[in-house]
Amino acid sequence: MSTDLSIMYGTAWKKDDTARLVKLAIQSGFTAIDTANQKKHYDEVLVGQALHEAFSQGAKREAFFIQTKFTTKDGQDHRLPYDPKADLKTQVRQSIDSSLEHLHTDYIDSFVLHGPHFRNRLVKEDLEVWQGIEEQFQAGKTKMIGCSNVSADQLRELATVAKVKPKMVQNRCYAQTGWDYEVRQICKEIGATYQGFSLLTANPHILNDRLVLDLAKRLNATAAQVIFKFAMSVGMLPLTGTTSEKHMLEDLKAKDLELTQSEVESIEKIMM
Ligand SMILES: NC(=O)c1ccc[n+]([C@@H]2O[C@H](COP(=O)([O-])OP(=O)(O)OC[C@H]3O[C@@H](n4cnc5c(N)ncnc54)[C@H](OP(=O)(O)O)[C@@H]3O)[C@@H](O)[C@H]2O)c1
Repeated sequence: MSTDLSIMYGTAWKKDDTARLVKLAIQSGFTAIDTANQKKHYDEVLVGQALHEAFSQGAKREAFFIQTKFTTKDGQDHRLPYDPKADLKTQVRQSIDSSLEHLHTDYIDSFVLHGPHFRNRLVKEDLEVWQGIEEQFQAGKTKMIGCSNVSADQLRELATVAKVKPKMVQNRCYAQTGWDYEVRQICKEIGATYQGFSLLTANPHILNDRLVLDLAKRLNATAAQVIFKFAMSVGMLPLTGTTSEKHMLEDLKAKDLELTQSEVESIEKIMM
């Protein structure tokens, strides 16, 4: 089994069904898994349970790409994975240490800042958290670091001031912004991979767009598969959080579809 980084399985909102669905995703062929140490939306312990079962059945740790996140207090409920009175860098360390335990591993592949405090600027607390994340990278607990829910300005600033640059950028991806065109361009400039989430749920109208439906018909595929293939074709690592085995297999197969360059460009400009 080798790592397939064409699409990533997202584990949010699955509650008590998390372990079953992550096991199903692994059996279906997903090797890249996204989670967060944030009980409000994720159950990292149950993600770890599914991984542990896979490891016990002979799967190699290095066959997986495991991503988790540090979530600041304002993104958490009362179930915090760190001491809220500790300084921010200590909170980051406590969070990743508990993620390592939850996920039955001694390293994370990608450790991501879940989101800055504000939508359009960075404050000193964000930079302190980032330094904490850099320290975990330097300590060898994660192979790369990244950020999520960032605007173009925030990403540009972070990439400028960071000692260790973000290698993963995870954003909600709306067709009406050219599929987050500006942030994707910055990712290219700084050598980061852009991860798009809510590709289907944030763009329901695109699934009924004539162009997408015609392409789906030609390729004998679904509109959802066309969107995922489009995302891959522009260099994105798409996320899917599907709860259906059929959709898991379809989402994994999207990479085998063939879109021409001009079809990709047409979808890219669909709302612009
Ligand atoms: N960084 C952040 O703040 C953040 C925020 C949100 C999400 N995320 C990450 O991104 C992951 C994915 O979230 P998401 O918002 O993209 O998706 P999602 O909320 O998990 O929803 C995916 C939707 O697409 C449907 N779907 C998937 N494949 C399909 C297919 N082939 N055909 C038809 N429908 C299909 C699913 O329905 P079925 O279940 O019926 O297939 C579901 O309704 C999360 O689990 C999480 O890991 C991160």
